[in-house]
Amino acid sequence: MHATAIAQPNIALVKYWGKRDVSRNLPAVGSISITLRDLYTEVSIDLGSGLSQDELLFNGERNDEMLPRIAACIDSVVGEGRPRVRVSSKSNFPIAAGLASSASAFAATTVASASAAGLSFSMLELTQLAGQASGSAARSLYDGFVELKNSGESIEVTSLCDVDSWPMQVIVAITETEPKAVGSTVAMEVSRKTSPFYENWIAQQDQDLDSARAAIDRRDFESLAVVAEHNCLKMHSVMWASRPPLVYWNTATIACMQSVRRLQEDGCKVFFTIDAGPQVKAVCLPEYAAAVREALEKTPGVQQVMESGLGIAARLVEPS
Ligand code: DP6
Repeated sequence: MHATAIAQPNIALVKYWGKRDVSRNLPAVGSISITLRDLYTEVSIDLGSGLSQDELLFNGERNDEMLPRIAACIDSVVGEGRPRVRVSSKSNFPIAAGLASSASAFAATTVASASAAGLSFSMLELTQLAGQASGSAARSLYDGFVELKNSGESIEVTSLCDVDSWPMQVIVAITETEPKAVGSTVAMEVSRKTSPFYENWIAQQDQDLDSARAAIDRRDFESLAVVAEHNCLKMHSVMWASRPPLVYWNTATIACMQSVRRLQEDGCKVFFTIDAGPQVKAVCLPEYAAAVREALEKTPGVQQVMESGLGIAARLVEPS
């Protein structure tokens, strides 16, 4: 009744923002992401450990805030009459700060809890379970470039191209390590209900998905850069125009975007993307990684820089 899984966070290049069905957590739009290699979340599940209630330890400390969502994820995998569970989780990057920590946490929890309960699911079933827990988590079950298709009553995820066929580096500029004020789940609904730009965002998404997919097929970095930056800025425009406004950026976020612009002007193959948080992810071809890293490290307000290649799907491991 024990199992441990590792999942990597993923970074969306064409973003998921908005839900079609809140109760089933079905996204209103498809999305395209890259799964990372060097950032990870490891989740150990201990089912039926004689506990009287569920318990979540994060980096060795009790975390009651995330527990209800993690417990609900395990309920949907194992069944609601399940024994109580101890969940031990650790990550090598800040959580709940716009670094896709929910994607890796829920992907690892889904895989580990299925194994701890001795259940075997198809990839399609695991995808639905992870996606129900957190939309972006479904993408962390797959490696490399990944597309989540918003297909009617369920979601479908496919690998667009594997890790080795188009190597990239992602440099993450951390500008704030405190958890964000409003989580994505709540913020998406605020946008849907109040942002005057929301309908346009949804209407244009298929076009962005087509452009990004075609750019990935052709290994056309410049075209991917254009669509990814535009899609990111459109999502943030939807957020900014929500009521209350959802402004996740700080001054260092903007300074990092300007650093990326300067690098582009110097011929560096890099683009930025930003999720529901103040961190900036600069995606580049590997030969430009050192220059991108140096520029972001020098950017005022950047607290820490992390780097990752593209990586691997969620998987079972021996506990570390
Ligand atoms: C801005 O997957 O965290 O990172 O399904 O409510 O758990 P829930 O949302 P979540 O949202 C991710 C939003 C995003 C964009 C993206 O990753 O596509």
